[in-house]
Amino acid sequence: MTTANKIYYVPDDVKERAFIDRPTYHSMYYESVEDPEKFWGEHGKRLDWIEPYTKVKNTSFEYPNVSIKWFEDGVLNVSQNCVDRHLKTRPDQTAIIWEPDDPETPAKHITYKELHEEVCRFANVLLANGVKKGDTVTIYLPMIPEAAYAMLACARIGAIHSIVFAGFSAESLAGRIEDCASKVVITADEGLRGGKKVPLKKNVDTALNHAPVVEKVIVVRHTGGLDPEMVSNPGVDVDYSRAREEVADVCAPEEMNAEDPLFILYTSGSTGKPKGVLHTTGGYLVYASMTHQYVFDYHDGDVFWCTADVGWVTGHSYIVYGPLANGATTLMFEGVPSYPDASRFWQVVDKHKVNIFYTAPTAIRALMGAGDKFVEGTSRESLRLLGSVGEPINPEAWEWYYEKIGEERCPIVDTWWQTETGGILISPLPGATDLKAGSATLPFFGVQPALMDADGNILEGPATGNLVILDSWPGQMRTVFGDHERFVETYFSAYKGKYFTGDGCRRDGDDYYWITGRVDDVINVSGHRMGTAEVESALVAHPKVSEAAVVGYPHDLKGQGIYCYVTLMEGEESSDDLRVELRKWVREEIGPIASPDKIQFAPGLPKTRSGKIMRRILRKIAEDDFSNLGDTSTLADPGVVDDLVENRQHKA
Ligand code: PRX
Repeated sequence: MTTANKIYYVPDDVKERAFIDRPTYHSMYYESVEDPEKFWGEHGKRLDWIEPYTKVKNTSFEYPNVSIKWFEDGVLNVSQNCVDRHLKTRPDQTAIIWEPDDPETPAKHITYKELHEEVCRFANVLLANGVKKGDTVTIYLPMIPEAAYAMLACARIGAIHSIVFAGFSAESLAGRIEDCASKVVITADEGLRGGKKVPLKKNVDTALNHAPVVEKVIVVRHTGGLDPEMVSNPGVDVDYSRAREEVADVCAPEEMNAEDPLFILYTSGSTGKPKGVLHTTGGYLVYASMTHQYVFDYHDGDVFWCTADVGWVTGHSYIVYGPLANGATTLMFEGVPSYPDASRFWQVVDKHKVNIFYTAPTAIRALMGAGDKFVEGTSRESLRLLGSVGEPINPEAWEWYYEKIGEERCPIVDTWWQTETGGILISPLPGATDLKAGSATLPFFGVQPALMDADGNILEGPATGNLVILDSWPGQMRTVFGDHERFVETYFSAYKGKYFTGDGCRRDGDDYYWITGRVDDVINVSGHRMGTAEVESALVAHPKVSEAAVVGYPHDLKGQGIYCYVTLMEGEESSDDLRVELRKWVREEIGPIASPDKIQFAPGLPKTRSGKIMRRILRKIAEDDFSNLGDTSTLADPGVVDDLVENRQHKA
């Protein structure tokens, strides 16, 4: 039997413990698509509502009048749901375990009672600095508990947070601050990752040159490294540790409508600048909390660890909102999997007795490459369930994760979803779904996937096509911040009346879904989503570059690597030094995650006579696949292809 066909059956003990077994999955799934009003009307009650909703679903995918509303007349507060309502039942339970970058630094255990005080204080500091309901606040923090406090504090007072991953450059930060016009930015003196310091406050100072809208910068002291610079902008910088002492430790949660915005999160698409994905209050939280409970089969007392950064949607939904809404103990890790060595994840699992562990294929592949000796010295006996997210997981990595890490006793939930979807859409449920290595398997409740061919026909049965979703689910994004037309055009115009995911997908004979990767100009580098257009505009901003085309190519560790074809200005000489300079340039323009893996200097790019770059050819060359370059006779200058093939870059 080939690996792809092997079935990993649900173990009996998992089935017995699980909330959802197979018959329950099927009957609930059926109800959820037959009568979404009734289904979600019932499950929406998992939250505390200040004013209960009477309307459940009011959604339309009809192009161009797309409109999505869930629980639209309900009133609630997200921070009240994630914090206050647990004070009666579990005040002294740990809400957040914080594991620092350096294993020698003590971990922190923050109880729900302490979380309440911290969130209230942070909320009061925001209020004291002029933040009002409906304002946007940009958060540029490392993985420290204050990141969760700040998110929940915004939610408490009705401010909309926009988290910018702390690995993004000052330039990227400035663009995102300006786009949503944040008057307040929250940052830390420095971040710490793998023993290296990240100059966050310094980056904010640089960003402020391009973001005049900012009035206040709230600075959390973390490393204590940059004290004098903390007050580099008199009247602007606010020392959080001092401000925290000056405010009350209680703050009443604001009454929010279910459709009031909760957060903006910028994500890359195939064209243009990253867009501000907007999620709202009620539907998002219902969906994040329900998927967290059922996909991870989270039971009271379990320790849940999602290794993502809060700068990505995975961190929003499965470090903070989903787990805390469920009264969970959630682990937040500041560091990286390889520091001090490749056993760190498993050391942390043992140290905090983690039961559910959720990470990305790129980390699994890197740890697999480091060798089993880093696993063997650890016990991992607390683990019960493993999860994967962010990119397709290759069967070899899946099997290693299953056999070595979970010792064949822990099911793996391969969860497919997107920033736009708010929560997991396709995934096994551990007590219900038999597994196949590399398949995200079946849709979650209320999710109706379909596969389309290039002509816009829905494909039935086993098939390969473009993945769309036929109807709305509560966690869906509502719009692109400030640009509803872009929302409609990006997601609902390719296949009218359907949400287009941008992913390709295969469905097998058991109706299992296998995501094959993006079909647009978005690439997925180590689980980080990037638009090739963004890297191209960074490159052409360099004074020596006249033109650039960027494509992804298969990369053993990163999933996809970044391959850049660069045409230089007349008179400029190509050299290895220039390669180094361009790499550094892109890191400064976007951030280290966008660092090009390969740069090929090309005197010309393959273009049609109308001037369109033929990316298909560039992709093939980057993949070292010259057998099928297709018809090159329509090119303005077919000769450029020979030059590109001859000078392709095997090594970075
Ligand atoms: O291509 C899919 C891939 O990641 C994209 C979404 O990226 P982002 O918005 O950054 O969110 C990542 C975390 C939710 C998708 O369009 N992707 C995500 N999860 C999987 C995946 N591809 C295959 N299998 C997955 N489990």
